[in-house]
Amino acid sequence: MAGLCTSVSVASQFTVAAKEMFQQGLPETLLVVDSDPVGRQLFRGVLKSSRYRILEASDVSEAIAILRNDKVDLVVTDLVLRDLSGLDLCRKLRAEKSTRLIPILVVTSVQTVESEIAGLDAGASEFLVKPISPMALRTRIRGMLRTKHVVDSLDEAESILFAMARIVDTRDSETGDHCERLAELSVLIGSAMGLPQADLTALRQGGYLHDIGKVATPDAILFKPGPLSEEEWAIMRQHTIVGESICRPMRSLRPVLPIIRHHHERWDGSGYPDGLRGEEIPLLARILQLTDVYDAIISKRSYKQAFDPDEALEMMQQEVDRGWRDPALFELFLSVMRRVREGNSATDTSDSA
Ligand SMILES: [Fe+2]
Repeated sequence: MAGLCTSVSVASQFTVAAKEMFQQGLPETLLVVDSDPVGRQLFRGVLKSSRYRILEASDVSEAIAILRNDKVDLVVTDLVLRDLSGLDLCRKLRAEKSTRLIPILVVTSVQTVESEIAGLDAGASEFLVKPISPMALRTRIRGMLRTKHVVDSLDEAESILFAMARIVDTRDSETGDHCERLAELSVLIGSAMGLPQADLTALRQGGYLHDIGKVATPDAILFKPGPLSEEEWAIMRQHTIVGESICRPMRSLRPVLPIIRHHHERWDGSGYPDGLRGEEIPLLARILQLTDVYDAIISKRSYKQAFDPDEALEMMQQEVDRGWRDPALFELFLSVMRRVREGNSATDTSDSA
C-alpha cells in the first residue's frame, strides 16, 4: 500500500513537472540584433504578418541582457555590430547552458566559404545574405523554429529524467541532496585524475541518475528495516538494469549508461548486475561507486545512523582489503578527501577568526 501511495505521489509530481515543461500555444519570441535602427525596423516590417513576439537589441551586451531575462526561441543577428560581432554573440550563446540550443540566423553582406566556416565554427545555425528577400527570411525562420521544437522536446525529456531522479533521491535519502553531493565529489575525483570534460559531465550526470531505476523498486524493499531476502535482493539489484533502460533512449546520456549499470560491481567480481571484475568495470562507475558508498555511510538513513568521515574511510578501507574496491583508486580518493577536509578546516578557521 505504501508503495502504491508513493507511486501515485511520484506520478502526480511527474505530471506537474511535465505540464510546466510542455506549455504550448504561446507565440514564439524572436530577438533581432542589429546596431542600425533602420535594419531592425526592416526585420519588424517583414515579420509583421507572422505571429511572432519580437524583441530588439542594438548590440551584443543588450542582447545578452535580454536573453538573461526573457525566453527567446530564435536570434537573428547582423554580422557587424557596434560593440562585438554577430559571431561573438554566437560564441557567447553556445557557451551558456540556458542559451546553447537557441537557433541563430546570421545576416551578412558577403558570404564566402571562409566566412561560412568561421560562422559555423562560432555556432551560427544559418546565414542569410543581404539584401534580404522577405519570403526567404520568413521561410528560413519557420524552418529553424520547426527544428528547435524537436530539439526542445529532447532537451525537455532529459530535464524530466533529472526531475524523476530528484524525486527518487528525495524518496530514498533523508534530505534529498545525496545526488548533489555525489555529483560534486565525483567531479572532484575525476578532475584530480585529469579526466576530460566529457567524462566530468558524465560523472556529474551519473551523480543524479545512477539510482533512477529505483523508481521501480517497491517501498517494502527499499525501506525494509531488516535484511532483505534473496528474492528481495534480486528485485533490488534490478535498479541498475531498469535505470539503464530508462536513460538508454536519450542519445545525450549514452556516456552515463555504464555508470548507471555498473555502479554496484565489485573489484573481485562479486558485485552486480554483470559480475565484472577489476578494470572490466568502467572507470567512471568505479569513481561514482566510491563516492556513493562514502556518502551513504556518512548519511543518516531510516535504518541507520550517520557515521563520521574517519569511520567511513576506515570502513571503506576494510572493503578494499576484502577485495571489493579498486585499491589504487581508493588511495586517490583518500588523498582527495584529505585535501577537501583540510580545505574545510582552513575555511572554518578563517570564518571563526
Ligand atoms: Fe544504486
